[in-house]
Amino acid sequence: MTRISLTKSPLTELNVDALIVGIASKGNAVVLAPGAADVDKAMKKRLAAALSDVGATGKANEVTRISSLGATKAPMVVAVGLGPQPRDGRFATETVRRAVGTAVRSLAGCARVATGLAAVNGGDDADTLRAVAEGVTLGGYSFTQYRSRASSKATKKAVGTASVVVPDPRDKVARAVVERATILGDAVSLCRDLVNIPASDLHPADLADAAVAACGGDVGCAVEVTDEKDLAEGGHGGIVGVGQGAKHPPRLVRIEWNGAGDGKAVHLVGKGITFDTGGLSLKPSAAMEWMKADMGGAASVIATMRAIAQLKLPVNVVGWVATAENMPSGNAIRPSDVLTMRGGKTVEVLNTDAEGRLVMADAIVRAGEESAEVIVDIATLTGAALVALGSKTYGIMSNDDDLREEIVDAAGAAGEQGWPMPLPEELRKSLDSDTADLQNIGDRYGGMLVAGLFLQEFVPNGTPWAHLDVAGPAWNQGEVHDYTPKGGTGVPVRTLVEWLERRAS
Ligand code: BES
Ligand code: MN
Ligand code: ZN
Repeated sequence: MTRISLTKSPLTELNVDALIVGIASKGNAVVLAPGAADVDKAMKKRLAAALSDVGATGKANEVTRISSLGATKAPMVVAVGLGPQPRDGRFATETVRRAVGTAVRSLAGCARVATGLAAVNGGDDADTLRAVAEGVTLGGYSFTQYRSRASSKATKKAVGTASVVVPDPRDKVARAVVERATILGDAVSLCRDLVNIPASDLHPADLADAAVAACGGDVGCAVEVTDEKDLAEGGHGGIVGVGQGAKHPPRLVRIEWNGAGDGKAVHLVGKGITFDTGGLSLKPSAAMEWMKADMGGAASVIATMRAIAQLKLPVNVVGWVATAENMPSGNAIRPSDVLTMRGGKTVEVLNTDAEGRLVMADAIVRAGEESAEVIVDIATLTGAALVALGSKTYGIMSNDDDLREEIVDAAGAAGEQGWPMPLPEELRKSLDSDTADLQNIGDRYGGMLVAGLFLQEFVPNGTPWAHLDVAGPAWNQGEVHDYTPKGGTGVPVRTLVEWLERRAS
């Protein structure tokens, strides 16, 4: 991931590979955003005209490269579009975050770049600096570990360092902003890496090891891993049942960050299906292609726990990773099998591809046993979430209106797209089983909501709970855009960290 350094030197004096400046459109003209004045002056005030000559328009996330022709120490000037010049002169933070992310991503392969974009909203502005810093760390990501040297498509390495021009590089607020953006970017990168690693290299025990490595030791969380034997002994019928078809056994991981002394904790529960074949209710092959990403919820919990521990947030949080591989085999659960879940509820499994809710239920019960102050679960739970909200927005369901609103707001502030969804009571009866307490599939229409209602059955009465179905945005199946790479995206790590920071303060 790209590192950030703060500087007050003029862009023109920096010994870097490229200078990133902002441009906007004003009618049909291109205008320079604040922060480019030194470069423009060195180019005899011809920067905007030169960019316009080669086709730049200033539209959002447009990247235009020109040679500096020796006018600056850097050989290249990269202009990134911020869209229409705002009437009040203030560029939205997400606009800045995306523009910087796009520029940094487009410069992959460069060792050093620099940008004046922290000045676009008039110099000393912490929110704008935060957007720039996050744009750098989110856009400065590449997943190269599976490319051989011989690859003709060798993925370029992310930019090494981005120097960000600010009025005072020693300013405490500015340094804290950079520190936070670095921690957050590292967490998002970790989440993306875990999602991108193929399932053959990330079995449930490996995901548990990754949680220990990311959160244990110096980072300061207490991490406990429960293996398949103890899971069975403890009556975790969902996790054991889903995992029983696989050669690689399931795990439950508990990660504790104690930042606020005594008192109840927020519990985060993540779905960690390291590969979802569907089990005996086998998925068609096209639907299986990206099912290594079915542990995105768990990855986001691990990454969030690491980030809040590094930020030393004064809040108590327990993260749960419910992880199994959903495989068909002679040992696999069959449609019509009945599982006894943690806490004693029985579930008739009519479709082994609705496995996420089974592993999540056990972990939600475990959170409830600890008298959680609030439970938030994160899961790539249903294809129906993609049908309802598209691939970039996740659904937020809750038994508590305030909690749902808090998370929607945190998502917006963090630059992620989360949207409120209902839990209509009339859908609940479709989960009634002829044989057991519940069945694991219900009404086909509103499948995301039905899955939420299933999980709600395992939440203790009176405990505020929210369910994030991130099946769409946890993985980018389409093209790269702004700071979002193909594959694992890191959603919803930024929402969770933002929400926990707000709770802490
Ligand atoms: N992991 C899938 C959901 C999913 C689908 C995630 C597409 C990402 C992209 C989940 O385990 C699943 O298979 N859900 C079923 C539930 C159905 C059988 C009730 C689904 O959505 O089809
Ligand atoms: Mn499934
Ligand atoms: Zn799944």
